[in-house]
Amino acid sequence: TTPIYYVNDRPHIGHCYATLVADVLARFQRLIRGEPMGGAAFSLDNDVFFLTGTDEHADKVVTSAAANNATPQQWSDINAAEFKKAFAWIGATSDDFIRTTEPRHKDKVVAYIERLMASGDIYKGEFTGWYDVGQEEYLTDNAAREHEFKSPINKQPLVKRTEPCYFFRLGKYQEALLGLIQKADRFRVLPDSRRQEVLGRLKPPAEPLRDVPVSRPVTDDPATQWGIRIPGDPAHRVYVWIDALFNYLSVVDTAERRKFWPASVHLIGKDILWFHAVIWPALLLALGEELPRAIFGTGWWISEGQKMSKSLGNFIDIDTLHRYAAWSPNKDALPLGVDALRWFLATQGPLSGADTDFSIAKLVEVYNADLANGVGNCASRVGNMIEKYFDGVVPDPRGATAHTPAGHTVFDFAVLCDRALQGAIDALAEFRIDAALQQGIWLVGQVDLFINHTRPFTMAKEMDKVRAEGDSTRAAAMREELGRILYLCAEAVRIASLLVAPAMPEKMNQLWRTWGCLPPTGVALADLAAFGGSNGLQPGAQIAKGGILFMRADPKVPPPSSPV
Ligand code: MSP
Repeated sequence: TTPIYYVNDRPHIGHCYATLVADVLARFQRLIRGEPMGGAAFSLDNDVFFLTGTDEHADKVVTSAAANNATPQQWSDINAAEFKKAFAWIGATSDDFIRTTEPRHKDKVVAYIERLMASGDIYKGEFTGWYDVGQEEYLTDNAAREHEFKSPINKQPLVKRTEPCYFFRLGKYQEALLGLIQKADRFRVLPDSRRQEVLGRLKPPAEPLRDVPVSRPVTDDPATQWGIRIPGDPAHRVYVWIDALFNYLSVVDTAERRKFWPASVHLIGKDILWFHAVIWPALLLALGEELPRAIFGTGWWISEGQKMSKSLGNFIDIDTLHRYAAWSPNKDALPLGVDALRWFLATQGPLSGADTDFSIAKLVEVYNADLANGVGNCASRVGNMIEKYFDGVVPDPRGATAHTPAGHTVFDFAVLCDRALQGAIDALAEFRIDAALQQGIWLVGQVDLFINHTRPFTMAKEMDKVRAEGDSTRAAAMREELGRILYLCAEAVRIASLLVAPAMPEKMNQLWRTWGCLPPTGVALADLAAFGGSNGLQPGAQIAKGGILFMRADPKVPPPSSPV
């Protein structure tokens, strides 16, 4: 799952990033299970269910709707459509898109609240506290003091509020949560830095968890009327965060979809870790539901060295992303493309570490290194040599999977490909999509190294010379060796292409079509990636002349204009 996004505004890079990370993960998992095309064709035993959506009952949605002369519902409709469009453009293969204003969600939320009221986990009381208006959350007294009564996020003054209110007995679950997070088997908080962050707030000497408000009052002010009503007490509505968290369960809480609970992973940004690693699992414990297997908290993108802000002019909204993808970094007018942008975001993003800077210079650098000079160049070199020396017919390695270039150690591509595949699978177990994708680049690097050592183009020239001199036996032996080398290269590139495809589905499809190796649906990755296997490049098959995948960026071409 991804977080569900507030619809007070249009999508930006942060939203696209969270959904992209989930998409790469979903595509990888489908590939592992044998659904390489993702999305459209689903087999019954396919375990992947990828959920995204929008969080619509926030007060800031009411505010920005009013500022735009729209009702909250109209404004939500407009922006939810923008999110759907943005995610379609970025190529997200989500299986469902939940809007919290949909009856299928609202009805379930009411039922969950009723269950929690019946069990006594939700009760009525009165609340006074420091409220962060921008984040729509109360801070503990300690946290408020620590931040000098200002929002730690937007630095606006906190507001002191008292209100009758429904509470959730969070305190009751502190010990259970602490145990679960420490044990990290049924419920993992990842990466470890985020886990430590949560543990630090759960373990003594941290102040004991207080029960948390789960409602907001409803008054005559229309601004307070947006949201799901507390069952049996229409003077209160469900706090937007509680409403939102329930989306993960409400969507799959049907007869056909129940098998998808518990979620494998909730991918989130670091700012919403507390809600996901503490409040949400406590609610689930109270409901007697299983906990998600993992919460993975990513860092944030900053832009050109600073926190994104509209006034600084470094804000990367969806239109800016469109412009970057449409920009051609060379004079040949081949645009950078969505796949290159996906690649950059997925491999260079703040996945598990510190906040990461988005800069055009870095985008171009990575594009050249990994794609134009990496995968793209290697695939086209290999394809062109097969075209030139073997008329585009895949040469026969006669069972060989390894070759030892003169004066070097052996390149055993069966072993190298296996190592890359295993590396990717291991990385995915920790949700490291960046490290998983880099396995493909590593493999391409091995092919490049092999080409540098074997110099097939020099070999081809020598072969022609030997043949011209009349030594046809030797020429034939050289041709066989050349064929074996090129087969090893091509087959390794094919396997590398599988490992980068979750980030670059369009471009890898283009390669697979030209090489005639489109992965058939229903074959698991382990079989697809078996070197020289029945799903591999077949000796004797014809490969077509390929178009260019990625055109090298020319440093003389000016970068696209600044974000705003
Ligand atoms: N609606 C809540 C989430 C509810 S989930 C049950 C929310 N929405 S949000 O639209 O404000 O943010 C959604 C996600 O985008 C969060 O995970 C947040 O961390 C992420 N990002 C927002 N800005 C970001 C960056 N600049 N970089 C990366 N991700 C960022 O919070």
